[in-house]
Amino acid sequence: MNRIDGKTAIVTGAGNGIGRAIAMAFAAAGAKVVVSDVLSDDGERTVREISESGGTAYFVAADVSDVEQVENLISASVTRFGGLDILANNAGIGGGKLRLHEIEPDDFDRVINVNLRGTFLCSKYAIPHFLAQGDGRIVNTASTYGLIAAPNAAAYCASKAAIINLTRQMAVDYGPDSIRVNAICPGYIDTGLGRRASQLSPDAFAAATAIREKAAGMQPLGRQGQPTEVGEVALFLASDAASFMTGSIVTVDGGCVTTFNYGEASN
Ligand SMILES: NC(=O)c1ccc[n+]([C@@H]2O[C@H](COP(=O)([O-])OP(=O)(O)OC[C@H]3O[C@@H](n4cnc5c(N)ncnc54)[C@H](O)[C@@H]3O)[C@@H](O)[C@H]2O)c1
Repeated sequence: MNRIDGKTAIVTGAGNGIGRAIAMAFAAAGAKVVVSDVLSDDGERTVREISESGGTAYFVAADVSDVEQVENLISASVTRFGGLDILANNAGIGGGKLRLHEIEPDDFDRVINVNLRGTFLCSKYAIPHFLAQGDGRIVNTASTYGLIAAPNAAAYCASKAAIINLTRQMAVDYGPDSIRVNAICPGYIDTGLGRRASQLSPDAFAAATAIREKAAGMQPLGRQGQPTEVGEVALFLASDAASFMTGSIVTVDGGCVTTFNYGEASN
């Protein structure tokens, strides 16, 4: 059931991390994948990896917060593969580690623009194609930080919470048109998001990684997740195996949000 043979899928932010894993999972399940990213070298690398594994992929550069680039992404995808069936709104950025009063307004806007407006724009221009064919599947990448609050992440938490309720709202509007809209909420996943977002030095990144691994170690599954473990869930939601799911918010977090984390005080 977790096959999407012959479907065309766009994955944003597919040059790295979770997006790359979603693109690889979609391609391995038989889809023709449009890999999109602002970083062309990274996107082209994902395309090469898919091709080398026997899959079909094509790169389109796009900043998801830019109207013209998103319109081009959607139309180039339809032109290249003759249709559009699946959209994975995955591109996202962190917001640095600051309390709200320390965040510059432009930096707040940037996080909202990429994470929330990007999800809106890509959906806006993809949905007419889904409506025309009477079928479509959207998988939004939210975050556990959209379900619970975390320190020093006001813009990011707000953007991801908004994606969660946007997912539910879109499910309401488009269910009657057989367009399913679901979201995944990854927890601690072992990607470079933190380093790219805050431009950490290698030493600072190593220190941040150690803190992250310690925090992940206190979750029920006791470790960070791998991007592939998120990609497989996105594939499930995009496939007919999830044919009765819409408006669902699916955590992929090693159990992180199921339990209060007592940390050192747990004994
Ligand atoms: N890594 C985690 O622990 C984690 C946890 C929860 C949610 N997430 C979410 O998962 C998604 C992917 O995160 P990741 O960890 O793989 O990050 P990553 O930094 O490894 O990859 C993100 C990709 O998105 C691209 N991107 C950034 N801004 C873009 C834009 N404006 N337009 C198009 N592409 C853009 C980057 O170039 C990069 O290739 C994000 O939405 C993130 O918020 C990640």
